[in-house]
Amino acid sequence: MFNLAVMASGRGSNFASIVEKIEAGEVPAVVNVLVSDNPQAKALEFARAHGIETAVFRREDFPTNKAHNQAIADFLRPRGIDLVVLAGYMRIVKAPLLEAFPNRIINIHPALLPSFPGLEGQRQALEYGVKISGCTVHFVDDRVDHGPIILQAAVPVEEDDTVETLSARILKEEHKLLPRAITLIAQGKVRVEGRRVRITP
Ligand code: GRF
Repeated sequence: MFNLAVMASGRGSNFASIVEKIEAGEVPAVVNVLVSDNPQAKALEFARAHGIETAVFRREDFPTNKAHNQAIADFLRPRGIDLVVLAGYMRIVKAPLLEAFPNRIINIHPALLPSFPGLEGQRQALEYGVKISGCTVHFVDDRVDHGPIILQAAVPVEEDDTVETLSARILKEEHKLLPRAITLIAQGKVRVEGRRVRITP
């Protein structure tokens, strides 16, 4: 079975959507472990309720970012992980972890990259005044929200949108897009050619 490690820092709605779709037989994968940097993350409760192993690596327990990433890499390496999924993981993934899983870490970002990388992509898009925004699933490389794009979904920005209403519209799409990307990768349909991600029809 295609073995996932999911990393989440907070609410965990993307994590929940992955688990629910796995349980419904729509995503051919298993979640081996949920890793969080935040002991209070809602995602941890959801994992426990669904019998999924959890692990917490608090940043403050390590002297440097690198050491934090190294500890997570050392923890994940022996577990036979096929794909690491960043589902609302609010930290930058650094070399030790990237090198342990080359081209095997994906992230979901709540904007149409390369526009509006970094924090609060939805607010950035609204304040910039774009008429269309959306979400992006991409492979993680050594730059923030930068690696090759796997899938994107667009949503309109409505006249009366606030950050909250736009975020909610985007989130609905996130909950479909990330499981779809995982499915395509698990089925061996995704190939990276430089910056272009080729998907077998
Ligand atoms: C999502 O908007 C995701 O795109 C971003 O962080 C948020 C996480 O939400 N990276 P949740 O924890 O999955 O509910």
